[in-house]
Amino acid sequence: MARIEGVCREVCDATEYVTFVTRGPDGPHLSGHWGNYMRILDPGEVVVFPVGRFQRTEQNLRADSRIQLMVASHKVQGTRSPGQGCVIDGTGEIVTTGEYLDAVREKFPWARGALVVRVGATSTQL
Ligand SMILES: Cc1cc2nc3c(=O)[nH]c(=O)nc-3n(C[C@H](O)[C@H](O)[C@H](O)COP(=O)(O)O)c2cc1C
Repeated sequence: MARIEGVCREVCDATEYVTFVTRGPDGPHLSGHWGNYMRILDPGEVVVFPVGRFQRTEQNLRADSRIQLMVASHKVQGTRSPGQGCVIDGTGEIVTTGEYLDAVREKFPWARGALVVRVGATSTQL
């Protein structure tokens, strides 16, 4: 397992939104979330999001747990110019009971579940 740390952590803290890619029977599927709804749990190996809908994402993850996240912010310095993006590869599941749901419901009591991402690798884009 990898960790969200360093510049990737900075980008996660600054990103306005998060894009998720999962794989379904018809190919890639996109869903998204607000950046400030993302909660990185110590020590950075697990990320959780509140889930209201996300029905297709949930179905896809049941069949193939691989997920990719993209975050980006112009406020974080890239290697050559302002702006950095980060791809997070990992596995995901939507849980409807347990400690991760409790963690997201602290701030988002409406959540029907928690999207739990276990970080496998991170990479920068810029
Ligand atoms: C910026 C952004 C914020 C979103 N916020 C939420 C949210 O707070 N709760 C939610 O259930 N879906 C949210 N969505 C919608 C989900 O990403 C997703 O598209 C929708 O739930 C349908 O999911 P599905 O295609 O997996 O069925 C948001 C989408 C975007 C792009």
